[in-house]
Amino acid sequence: MTTLAIPSSRELPLYENGQSWYGKDLQQRTDWIHELSDDEQREVHQAVARAIAGEVDLVAMKAEDFPLATLGARLKVIGHDLKHGRGFALIRGLDTMELTLVEKAYAFRGVGAHFGEAVSQNAKGHVLGHVANLGLDYSDPTTRGYQTPAELRFHTDAADIVGLMCIRGARSGGLSRIASSTTVWNEAVRRRPDLAAELLRSYSFTRWGEVRPGQRPYFHIPLFHAHEGRMIAVFVAGAIEKGQALPGVEPLEPRQRDAIAFVNELASEDGIRLDMAFQPGDMQFLCNHSILHSRTSYEDWPEPERRRHLLRLWLACPDGPSLPDYMTTEFQGRTVSGRPDGIRLPGVELKANLYPD
Ligand SMILES: [Fe+2]
Repeated sequence: MTTLAIPSSRELPLYENGQSWYGKDLQQRTDWIHELSDDEQREVHQAVARAIAGEVDLVAMKAEDFPLATLGARLKVIGHDLKHGRGFALIRGLDTMELTLVEKAYAFRGVGAHFGEAVSQNAKGHVLGHVANLGLDYSDPTTRGYQTPAELRFHTDAADIVGLMCIRGARSGGLSRIASSTTVWNEAVRRRPDLAAELLRSYSFTRWGEVRPGQRPYFHIPLFHAHEGRMIAVFVAGAIEKGQALPGVEPLEPRQRDAIAFVNELASEDGIRLDMAFQPGDMQFLCNHSILHSRTSYEDWPEPERRRHLLRLWLACPDGPSLPDYMTTEFQGRTVSGRPDGIRLPGVELKANLYPD
């Protein structure tokens, strides 16, 4: 009988690099919060007014359409840190009190354009997503976690960068939690190398029915994969569990289930994770290749107009980190610039809706 050779902990590499950080070291620091100065805020407001007056298309908007004379240079530094450093940033302090929802969407999309191009987040071609409680039943197989107030486990989204802008927070709860997937990998190697080895294997993730012609209804890729000095993670436990029902998908072995649960356990751990409480106007940007994110459950106000509402962007970054081939072959397609292109179905036009539909 042959047995699968599981590398010993000495054979599994640790990645002590710019992507590995511990929440306990950052929770007390504020250098990951980029508070906008009055001048920078004015610049954003002016760029919004100019883009709206010039009828700039929210879908195709580029950095040139949203010129930021001084903040632009700062966003370059933040963008580099997002893609090649610790992988996250919170841009705080935009006074949104006097902005309409359209103006807020332009501000967010405009700042995001300085990091990358917007790609589709679903089969409907939405480049402006809405994270809100739509009153849907989570037990319905088509309902996604971000459309409910339920706690979300740690996961990655499907683009180089995911951005969230807080329009309104919840009555209570709804804390954003992030963790370095590189640190999670390192800790898995240190504590349970047997489970870390399982994370290197390929798993089948459902495409949630959002399937391109010629594609299987699932994609089959490693959860963690070493590539050019970095550990690249794609981790969505819910999509792997849902994938189990699809024909052709191998049943998960108990140790694979243990490995998946261990990732969420490590990422949730005090000391590893970093918590952020969003304030209206906050813009959070994360690099999915090196950051896992989750959210605590929340309770809304009863009035629909007071409910928690976040805008979401998925960005493809031509200057993003080098990625293994499966990211733009098996997992997703590729943009003209060669980056993962989100959830793109043929014949579906990209659109930026201001309200969830
Ligand atoms: Fe997400």
